[in-house]
Amino acid sequence: MRASVLVFFGVLAVLASATRQSGGQPARPAANGTPPAKPYGTGMPAFAQVPTASCGSSPCHGGGSVGQVGSEHTTWAPVVNTDGPHDPHAKAYRVLFNETSVRMGKLLGIAAPHKEALCLKCHAIDNVRPADAVADGVGCGACHGPAEKWLEAHYAPGWKGLSNKQKWDDYGFVPTDNLVARSLNCAGCHVGDADREVNHDLIAAGHPRLAFEAARFHAAPQYRKHWVEKIPQPAFEVRTWVVGQAAALRASADLLRARAERAAAGDEKAAWPEFSGLACYSCHQTIGTGDIRRTGGQADRPVGRPGWEVWSNAAVGVAAELCPEVFAGVSAPDLRAVTELRKVMGKSTAPSPKAVAAQAGKAVAELDAWLAILQAAEDRDPAPRVSPAVARKFVARLTDNALAKDKDGHTVLADHDWDALAANYLGCAAMYSAAGGKAGEPGWAEPVKALGDKLRFPAGKDSPSGLDRKGLDGVRDGFQRFQKLFDATSVTRGKP
Ligand code: HEC
Ligand code: HEC
Ligand code: HEC
Ligand code: HEC
Repeated sequence: MRASVLVFFGVLAVLASATRQSGGQPARPAANGTPPAKPYGTGMPAFAQVPTASCGSSPCHGGGSVGQVGSEHTTWAPVVNTDGPHDPHAKAYRVLFNETSVRMGKLLGIAAPHKEALCLKCHAIDNVRPADAVADGVGCGACHGPAEKWLEAHYAPGWKGLSNKQKWDDYGFVPTDNLVARSLNCAGCHVGDADREVNHDLIAAGHPRLAFEAARFHAAPQYRKHWVEKIPQPAFEVRTWVVGQAAALRASADLLRARAERAAAGDEKAAWPEFSGLACYSCHQTIGTGDIRRTGGQADRPVGRPGWEVWSNAAVGVAAELCPEVFAGVSAPDLRAVTELRKVMGKSTAPSPKAVAAQAGKAVAELDAWLAILQAAEDRDPAPRVSPAVARKFVARLTDNALAKDKDGHTVLADHDWDALAANYLGCAAMYSAAGGKAGEPGWAEPVKALGDKLRFPAGKDSPSGLDRKGLDGVRDGFQRFQKLFDATSVTRGKP
């Protein structure tokens, strides 16, 4: 686990755009365009991968200047000095030789992490030929899809006329310009899937905890990207946050389903419950530092139970409720199966794997249906113009989501778990950036920074140690300041 889980957002460059509202009333998708129940772009197509070097010739993607169209390989490729901006994916293989990996190997009984399939599945292009092309790390095919079928097709006439779905179905090309297809792909490595996971054994051996939030991962200050987003702000970042919430939870639910199925089948190696799917700081916390943390209006889990995937559950309700604001023609989904899954997971400290597997399957189907609708809306209108005021609505709902009233009417945190607090905060930070940062919403600058500071891990620590009753009261006050800001500027509240 690393302190970098919570990187601060002050430095985001933002495109402000004064624009018209996309909105209108939320509506059901048009009858003629009944969306598929499953989004395209889930998992990896079964075609062969080609080495990253095949994309890097100079007339193709290996042009000279970093950041130019046609220089994607040059921009991605490893740099010697990784303190400056670089693409972290280009060094994903090399880190398998570093001190942390070597120590992990010792603790886990893995002789050579750089040869271990478990590690290579996420730190290189899985199944690439020739085998030594794994040294490229997370190369082009990891995100753009295995190029066996599309390598020659993608510069041939007619390619641009294909729909995103055809590119995926017929060629195995991941249409990364669609945020749903893109984020599902990121989540495969950054959350995990049925075939790839960072479990608690890996974490306890030193692997950083995976905590994916799409908007923050797109804005990582050191990440030198080889593309410029085509979606104008604020729609880009608001959409990325919404889609990221859905995609991360979808990946978590699918991972839970796979783990539960293995446990239900009696696989002795399948840990149950798998700790990495539960709220880390419910177990890893200091005892006896004053009042107990849990007060007032708690989330829907019983006392003393670690929550299931608090990280990806805490703010998803806001994304669901407000998605019609940035996806025209979409109505808010009712995430009933997800709510039921949280209940099943909270029933006991070791819920029945069979019951969990069944309910997780339903939750995945429900999230897929939502993602498919968002995906179709993106394909219909890939560059929407929405009013910056939309970001305010999201922040208003996120602060409401973080706070609750206790039985005496006092404002308390709705959930004291750091993951829940950070999820709501990161949503606010993404909205701040979407709305133009300091230029667009000068009044938010100070409250965003103050809240971020309260949640940041103490120097030298890899966890929010010291977040006791007093610290939590400070976080509550931080969210309240935001809430008051909106009262003052009389933003529309409640359901859109
Ligand atoms: C499910 C995918 C997945 C698997 C499996 C996986 N990793 Fe990772 N690993 C990641 C991701 C994603 C990151 C970046 C995490 C972040 O910063 O959010 C990472 C980060 C790391 C880092 C920190 C890199 C740095 O720059 O400091 C090390 C070291 C590492 N992994 C080693 C390993 C080893 C060794 C294995 C096999 C035993 C392994 N990983 C298996 C996905 C994975
Ligand atoms: C971590 C995932 C990832 C990796 C690895 C990756 N890409 Fe991309 N790439 C993206 C995303 C996301 C986009 C944005 C898509 C869009 O808006 O159309 C993109 C865009 C592009 C574009 C379009 C650029 C533009 O301005 O429209 C090209 C060309 C491209 N990538 C080539 C490559 C090549 C070549 C490699 C390997 C050297 C590579 N990519 C590796 C994720 C990735
Ligand atoms: C094939 C697996 C894979 C895919 C797909 C993938 N990543 Fe990564 N990503 C990694 C690994 C492994 C690392 C750690 C690399 C390192 O530290 O050396 C990483 C690191 C990162 C980091 C740096 C994290 C940190 O804490 O420093 C960011 C940001 C990131 N990825 C964003 C993305 C985004 C956005 C996408 C989708 C467009 C994506 N990744 C797709 C495997 C993947
Ligand atoms: C259900 C309780 C529980 C949950 C949830 C849990 N852990 Fe653990 N964790 C443990 C136990 C028990 C150990 C073993 C402690 C020991 O070896 O002394 C441990 C060990 C660790 C270690 C090694 C510590 C050391 O110094 O050896 C790390 C790091 C860690 N956990 C991180 C995490 C992270 C990150 C999460 C969330 C993704 C998490 N844990 C979730 C119970 C839990």
